[in-house]
Amino acid sequence: MHARIALCPGDGIGPEVLDEARKTLDAIADRYDHQVSYTEHLIGGAAIDATGTALPEDTYAGCAAADAVLLGAVGGPKWDDPKATVRPEQGLLAIRQRLGLWANLRPVTPYPCLHDLSPLRPEKLAGVDMLVIRELTGGLYFGQPKERTTGEGGLRAVDTLVYTEHEIRRVVELAFKIAATRRSKVTSIDKANVLESSRLWRQIAIEVAERHPRIRIEHLLVDAAAMRLVTHPSSFDVIVTENMFGDILTDEAAVLSASIGLLPSASLGDGEGRKRGLYEPIHGSAPDIAGQAIANPVGTILSVAMLLRFSLGLEREAQCIERAVEDALRDGCRTRDVGGTLTTHAMGAAIRERLEEAAAGGSASAMLARAF
Ligand code: IPM
Ligand code: MG
Repeated sequence: MHARIALCPGDGIGPEVLDEARKTLDAIADRYDHQVSYTEHLIGGAAIDATGTALPEDTYAGCAAADAVLLGAVGGPKWDDPKATVRPEQGLLAIRQRLGLWANLRPVTPYPCLHDLSPLRPEKLAGVDMLVIRELTGGLYFGQPKERTTGEGGLRAVDTLVYTEHEIRRVVELAFKIAATRRSKVTSIDKANVLESSRLWRQIAIEVAERHPRIRIEHLLVDAAAMRLVTHPSSFDVIVTENMFGDILTDEAAVLSASIGLLPSASLGDGEGRKRGLYEPIHGSAPDIAGQAIANPVGTILSVAMLLRFSLGLEREAQCIERAVEDALRDGCRTRDVGGTLTTHAMGAAIRERLEEAAAGGSASAMLARAF
């Protein structure tokens, strides 16, 4: 098949990890006889420096015309002035919103070979295999008004937390659909004891659950969920939650798997079957290690696996990458964040060297395969 991929390297370590992801996609395409063509686009701080805006129109057009978008990371201290009117993050939020990518899938399945590196005791990590579905285009990130004003009491700032029934229903429905292919449990996380938007969230989640009697539903307040993520992480299967809670909880959940550098994500929108999507590691631009060639490329490489699965319908190819990553880690190939010394490139190369054996079968870890 022929796939058109839009590459948005962004800032900090974004270009470094994206480079390894692209080489891995090329290697897979080679192995399985697919054609991939790329366009490359500015986003985030790099786009601000070049054009004055975080999402230039030609970046949006290039992404909209592609089968999938592969993104590195945005942001950095250079653009962090709280008084600035343009910010790198605006580029990421705008591309998610304009492409209509309302569901962000973040799988967290710690590798047994890395259990020792997690701050949690290994016995707590046994059986941890969760998929967090974060609502991505609503809530506090996008609600209006969102502004600063000056009044009698001085400066005042407001963000608005708004959700519509439609926005809640589609993402909760997706969670139930995916749970049916996994361990049949959905945990819906809200703050229904305080927030009106959360009470609507819970009401809709209850309605959706009634139509899926074979799936267990559990409602958890976000503060209790934050605690349970570290006390009983294996009790979760599919988690569904609103935008901001999902942002915070997935950084917390990332700690379970030893390094946030390992975790991929897929952002998807409407449509059955293959969907256009945006794929990015969940880590940020890590300005502290940018340019040193030591960033972990695994989160971005696993994002390529998700791209193959969800946007190109190439499950076999996706699993091949996932197995090669697991094999490399099991063989002790590690970047610094997981206790090793490999460079970003050496880690990418170690994974690519294992693709052939992974393609032949190997030890099939289910990893993300059960997601759909
Ligand atoms: C993430 C990031 C982004 C978010 C930032 C960079 C805008 O933290 O993808 O989790 O908050 O969504
Ligand atoms: Mg985040």
